Amino acid sequence: MTSGQDLLALAREVGLEAAELVRQRRPGGRVDVAATKSSSTDAVTEIDRASEELIRTRILDRRPDDGFVGEEGNDVTGSSGVEWVVDPIDGTVNFVYGIPCYAVSIAAAVDGDVVAGHVVNVVSREEWAAVRGAGAWRLDGPDRVRLAAPDPPPPSHALVGTGFHYVPEIRAQQAEAVARLLPQVRDIRRTGSAALNLCEVAAGRLDAFVEQGLMPWDRAAAGLVATESGLVVTGLDGPPDERLVMAAHPAVSEEYFGLFRACGF
Ligand code: IPD
Repeated sequence: MTSGQDLLALAREVGLEAAELVRQRRPGGRVDVAATKSSSTDAVTEIDRASEELIRTRILDRRPDDGFVGEEGNDVTGSSGVEWVVDPIDGTVNFVYGIPCYAVSIAAAVDGDVVAGHVVNVVSREEWAAVRGAGAWRLDGPDRVRLAAPDPPPPSHALVGTGFHYVPEIRAQQAEAVARLLPQVRDIRRTGSAALNLCEVAAGRLDAFVEQGLMPWDRAAAGLVATESGLVVTGLDGPPDERLVMAAHPAVSEEYFGLFRACGF
């Protein structure tokens, strides 16, 4: 049986190699969109595909019995009980435009529970890592800081991260929820990478996060970073899922989550 630490070590090794590929392959200016997915604004580039292919090949070469689920497809069903959940570039729109806020995200789940997660900001090279039951860390060059989500403000002073779906009809509902929330909190941030946003709540750069429509690869690794930093990460009526992801400090989570739900999230 492989430990969470072993799975994290592989996630980190491969995640850093993929981030290097993304840095090397990104041309100057705007990146060409190769295809679209859920809507005409949901972009995929050749570099998303190359990053995912590298990650899948590296991991399955070392662990051929594992399963693999990636944002760009070609999923593999495994037999070992370990499944890798991968976003080869979270924040693809930022990547296309050259906004330095996009990440490679790799999680390992055992029998459906995420036990190890690694997220790396491709441009700043800042890393986030977690092992279930052992903690979460921010790694930045030689710095390795254990994460403990700081004491939060009341909702009226909360800086809340969120994001929007690519499908216009869903966005219209999200815009209504944000319009209700905005007058009741300090402010909203929509920076375009759910994985980085969840890590930022863990580090106290945001006070909470709420988003509807996130896929497993957007939230698997960073959700564990958030949980292991001491945050409550939840969904509509249980664990987070595609319908809803909310994260906040346990001292205020009921209050924050009640507010998010009342606003229509
Ligand atoms: C997206 C980002 C964004 C969120 C979207 C996601 P992608 O992931 O995480 O912040 O608002 O819902 O789809 O498409 O860049 O991997």
